[in-house]
Amino acid sequence: MEQAATMVTFTVDDREIQAEEDANLLDACLENGIFIPNLCHIPGRSRPRASCRMCFVEIEGVDRPVTSCTERVQEGMRVRTDTERVRRLQRAGLQFLLSVHDVDCGHCPSNKHCPLQDIARVLEVGLKSKRLDKILSTPPVIREHPLLDYYPNRCILCGKCLDACRQRLGQPLLTFARRGFETVISFFGEKERDSFACGAEPLCAAACPVSAIRLRSAGESAPEP
Ligand code: SF4
Ligand code: SF4
Ligand code: FES
Repeated sequence: MEQAATMVTFTVDDREIQAEEDANLLDACLENGIFIPNLCHIPGRSRPRASCRMCFVEIEGVDRPVTSCTERVQEGMRVRTDTERVRRLQRAGLQFLLSVHDVDCGHCPSNKHCPLQDIARVLEVGLKSKRLDKILSTPPVIREHPLLDYYPNRCILCGKCLDACRQRLGQPLLTFARRGFETVISFFGEKERDSFACGAEPLCAAACPVSAIRLRSAGESAPEP
């Protein structure tokens, strides 16, 4: 017979919460309606990617803010999600992302259900802030794949497309290519239209929270370079 999980009690912003011992801290907060900015987190993933550096919290007894997606809940832990240090890190992270992001919400399919918009609202950061110079890549849409368009200036490098593809096929047919500011998602393997594994419903496009991968539709025109 399966053993019942041990429950622990801990506090987040003075609110008492119960969760299974060793549960993921970010998941536990989100499940209890406590919003912590996050972009690369996939609930239930045993090894968090922890690449977006947005989900910071402070934990009593730990000297510096930590990423909540890499923490496990423990009995009696005291967590704060909205300290000055946390907000400073999150704002800097968001502003950096926006400096390589083409903020054109009016023409973006993710408008109104976009995690960047949600996070910007919570952090009170303007999406069109001019604090950092923009570095946008060209061309704005890459059409190397027979069926999919990739918009590098929307991509937040969260890795959710890779994860979705890996879950379906075992070995993802996309990867991160290049480095630093120039990092992009690149497709390989499925260059032949006939062998496209996903058919009309590519999981990578469905998993992308910012519409950076789109199934090309006959009527859709690419933005001008
Ligand atoms: S991804 Fe979000 S912030 Fe970026 S253009 Fe689309 S809706 Fe706007
Ligand atoms: S294409 Fe979308 S899902 Fe993939 S890394 Fe970029 S933003 Fe994330
Ligand atoms: S959600 Fe924790 S680092 Fe991205």
